[in-house]
Parts: sequence; structure tokens; C-alpha cells
Amino acid sequence: MLAIRAVTAADWPAIWPILRDTFATGESYPFGPEHGEDFIRAAWIDAPAATFVAMDGDRIVGTYFIKANQVGLGSHVSNCGYVVAPGAAGKGVASAMCEHSQQWAIDHGFRAMQFNFVVSTNERAVRLWQRLGFEIVGTLPGAFRHARLGFVDAYVMYKKLAK
Ligand SMILES: CC(C)(COP(=O)(O)OP(=O)(O)OC[C@H]1O[C@@H](n2cnc3c(N)ncnc32)[C@H](O)[C@@H]1OP(=O)(O)O)[C@@H](O)C(=O)NCCC(=O)NCCS
Repeated sequence: MLAIRAVTAADWPAIWPILRDTFATGESYPFGPEHGEDFIRAAWIDAPAATFVAMDGDRIVGTYFIKANQVGLGSHVSNCGYVVAPGAAGKGVASAMCEHSQQWAIDHGFRAMQFNFVVSTNERAVRLWQRLGFEIVGTLPGAFRHARLGFVDAYVMYKKLAK
């Protein structure tokens, strides 16, 4: 049974290898080898409004953060980042985290959710977000320097949460 709860300081040693190994592929997030553990922890845990972990029993199988996408007059739009442990893919963990994040966003007064940098070749993610109601509203030509494929497009994806 999957459970999603707020992160605690004690979770970091289990979260870090998941993020480190995911970012090291250079296929889905812009973090590079120059971004060490402290930088990533600040970006994933400290800077966002909230960070959550998805638990399968006592094992962390995924994590996401949520924050305002902009300050002030753009702060009613939320932004998230999601990572699932490679061994836990294809079991609905990201779907559950994304549904959870949308509810959290609504509960905290956000009116929309925006993903700024979905790598176009990350087909699983693009299909998943589309299935959950996000639209590709823009294409950033060659904006992501993919570790294997070179310069590929990135998408801005958006979903309205309030009428
Ligand atoms: C992309 C990523 C978030 C997807 O996570 P995931 O947990 O595998 O996603 P889900 O299992 O919810 O959905 C993926 C697929 O599994 C299917 N699925 C959902 N629940 C399922 C279940 N209980 N059993 C089997 N399959 C299931 C979904 O239908 C979906 O199918 P599709 O690929 O045909 O669309 C994950 O692979 C990841 O962390 N990748 C690296 C980082 C990344 O890309 N993050 C997103 C950046 S935008």
C-alpha cells in the first residue's frame, strides 16, 4: 500500500541516492555533476513550500516538492518536481504523487500547476502528465542538453486547478 507523507529530516539519507542516481542520467532534470548533495538538498527540501515522500511500507519509493512557480502576482500557480526510485517505476507512484500534489495545491489556494521543463524525450513523463490533465502549452526548442541525445526540446505543461 502506497502512503504519501511530508518529508522529515531523517528521510534525506534515503532520498539522496534516488535523486542522485536519477539526475546522474542527465535525461530528465537539468541538475549536473557540479550540483552536489548540499545544492540538491537545498533545491528539493529547503527552498520549496513543501516536500513529500511516497512510502511502500517503510521504504521511500518516490518524492516530490511543490512551490509557487513565481513570486507575487504569479504565485497562484504551483510548480512541482517528481522522482520515483528506478526500481519502483510503472506501479503508479508518480500518478499518486501528482494527484496528491494537485490536492495539496488546491487546499493551499493555488489555481493552476505548471511544469517548466519537461524533457520532450522523457516520453513516459509526458504521457503521464497528459493523462493527468496537463497540456503542452509551449515548446522550448533545444532547451535541454540531454546526456545521450544532445540538444532536445523541453515542454512547458500546464493544468488549471480552479474554475
Ligand atoms: C517519469 C516517472 C516520474 C514516472 O513514474 P512512475 O511511478 O513510473 O509513473 P506511473 O507508474 O504513475 O505511470 C507510468 C505508467 O505506469 C502505468 N501504471 C500506473 N499505475 C500502475 C500500476 N498500479 N501498475 C502498473 N502500471 C501502472 C501508468 O498507466 C503509466 O503508463 P504509461 O507509461 O503507458 O503512461 C519516473 O519514471 C521518474 O521518476 N523518472 C525520472 C525522473 C523524471 O523523469 N521525473 C519527471 C520529470 S518531468
